[in-house]
Amino acid sequence: MSLDAVLARIDADLPQATDRLMELLRIPSISTDPAYKGDCEKAADWLVADLQSLGFTAGKRATPGHPMVVAHGGSGDGAAPHLLFYGHYDVQPVDPLELWTRDPFDPAIEKTPAGEVIRGRGSADDKGQLMTFVEACRAFIAEHGELPCRITVLFEGEEESGSPSLTPFMEANADELKADIALICDTGMYDPETPAIVTMLRGLLGEEITVRGPDKDLHSGYYGGLAMNPARVLARIIADLHDDTGRITVPDFYDGVPELSDTLRAQWDQLGFDAEAFLGSVGLNLPAGEQDRSPLEQVWARPTCEVNGIWSGYTGKGFKTVLPSEAHAKISFRLVGTQDPHKIRENFRAFVEARVPADCTVTFQAHGASPASQMSISDPAFEKARQALSPEWPNDAAYIGGGGSIPIAGHFKQILGMDSLLIGFGLDDDQIHSPNEKYNMASFHKGMRSWARVLDALSRG
Ligand code: BES
Repeated sequence: MSLDAVLARIDADLPQATDRLMELLRIPSISTDPAYKGDCEKAADWLVADLQSLGFTAGKRATPGHPMVVAHGGSGDGAAPHLLFYGHYDVQPVDPLELWTRDPFDPAIEKTPAGEVIRGRGSADDKGQLMTFVEACRAFIAEHGELPCRITVLFEGEEESGSPSLTPFMEANADELKADIALICDTGMYDPETPAIVTMLRGLLGEEITVRGPDKDLHSGYYGGLAMNPARVLARIIADLHDDTGRITVPDFYDGVPELSDTLRAQWDQLGFDAEAFLGSVGLNLPAGEQDRSPLEQVWARPTCEVNGIWSGYTGKGFKTVLPSEAHAKISFRLVGTQDPHKIRENFRAFVEARVPADCTVTFQAHGASPASQMSISDPAFEKARQALSPEWPNDAAYIGGGGSIPIAGHFKQILGMDSLLIGFGLDDDQIHSPNEKYNMASFHKGMRSWARVLDALSRG
């Protein structure tokens, strides 16, 4: 099959591909908010219809949460591998809405000094990214009447809310989903000129804490001083979670955290990471993690503990002299190496309980627990893909780490015995999970072309 013809088809079809992505972006498939359940169904239906139009046998599969989309296409001969492609059609909530420059679900192409961007929730995470793969498949089919190899597609609708249905679904459908290698398009490039294969991702553990004190909100003058304030209790617990050097103080937290290998350290040193520019682009200056670790280690290779949300008492306009009855926080840990999320959850809860005074109570709600994943890049597919990616971009593709979490990469390994090739075209300034999310038109267009190149290279066996 000629790759040049497929690339030319992608170029010619860019306006139509953009229209298709816009349609998908208009569906507000926010998975964490039950109000958008119907929209998650709609996004799944849209994908099923699109994949069917390409000749895939595609279906929507019910789960206790949002549906999965599973599709099968291509036949492939003996030498070509069977690939499983994964992406997610759900998106993050859009708040604070007032900071968006447009309706997050009314996407548009905007001209910026760095070129055209597609602005809208989900443009980069992950609808724009998953469509780069679908469009590459469309171009193969349009030019050659078939896919270059056997491809199974799995689209999930709960990635942004901890993937509760994923492992049972994978276990129940293991035979159908098992392939030679998984391809995941949900990560970023190293920089706008350097494509990347992410070889390690951090795991994630989420905990919501509620500290309760008095049985109702109180007048803070009438009771203040004498009555225990749960907001103060919670603030002290949170402050205790790190020491002055940035280390996390939960007992045994660092069990299973490996030192960076010399090879990886050398590879990463070569990347010349500019921490000042990275922090400068979000209005900051000072690295705030473990003081004895390099900036790149802090974001890719070290575990973290972060407060994602914290609330108590009166937070509306004006002022109310209240002594709150409850205080809440959502706390997450990013994990590396072989850190065990379940053990850390237990130790964290004990750490909190030991700091709650007798007059208060604490309850916990678990929000997901997935270990870190590390790819063994000895599978030749990694180097084949890296070499296939390089000609599309100004710089050769790099092997990099990823600070975020994609729990499915670990599940693919444990449940289906497959490594994952994590190739994505997002950029640091895409504002994923933030207001004004965007995906560069160059990421979308060259992303499709990159997948065509990777599919071509991998199918050659
Ligand atoms: N695309 C991201 C993960 C990511 C971001 C990987 C940056 C590498 C670098 C993904 O969609 C995501 O945001 N995942 C969540 C997972 C969670 C909700 C279970 C995350 O990392 O917070």
